[in-house]
Amino acid sequence: RPEPMIAPSILAADFARLGEEADAVDNADWLHVDVMDAHFVPNLTLGLPVVQSLRKATALPLDCHLMIDDPDRWAPGYAEAGAANVTIHVEAARDPVQVARAIRAAGAFAGLSVKPGTPLEPYLELLREFDTLLVMTVEPGFGGQEFMAEVLPKVRLAREQVNAGHLRLFVEVDGGVGADTIEAAAEAGADVFVAGSAVYGADDPARAVDALRDRARA
Ligand code: DX5
Ligand code: ZN
Repeated sequence: RPEPMIAPSILAADFARLGEEADAVDNADWLHVDVMDAHFVPNLTLGLPVVQSLRKATALPLDCHLMIDDPDRWAPGYAEAGAANVTIHVEAARDPVQVARAIRAAGAFAGLSVKPGTPLEPYLELLREFDTLLVMTVEPGFGGQEFMAEVLPKVRLAREQVNAGHLRLFVEVDGGVGADTIEAAAEAGADVFVAGSAVYGADDPARAVDALRDRARA
């Protein structure tokens, strides 16, 4: 199995102290940044100016998860701002291939995300254009929700495709990932684990990152 990577989600951090909150998890692999527009999801968070500032405030690779309408228009800007990975939702994109190519041309990894109710099979060919598959393990919009284990067959399918050499992808899970759920996600084949409340809700976020990584390795 691949070495697990932990991506704390700043959705669960203190938005008035984002630089310090990033520093608190400097042992993490990626920093997950949830961009929400109150249209694609019923919540509003942050956008490009905050990502541009975060880029200067931390050395962590930024993993931008765009839960927005019209990612075709906005996604390349996040790559130009220095994000390491820019993930769009397949349910929102008009031309996902075109967006992936624009993200990659700007120097970032391109990610594709599927909501819990969106099947993966129709998009297996499309995934050749992407570096990351983000499988949502909650309905996107809010932190602190319960992990949906019923989504794990999609993680399993993606891992099989990677292991068979049909795809080259990070397989990322997002939503409800914590000490009690990360092993199931790892066993199914995920290698990048987003955790919001399980990291920033802990007394020592850096220790929570290490503990999650150890559990994913088990
Ligand atoms: C939810 C976001 C997640 C969220 C996860 O729509 O995409 O990244 O921050 O939060 P937890 O880990 O608390 O479920
Ligand atoms: Zn997310």
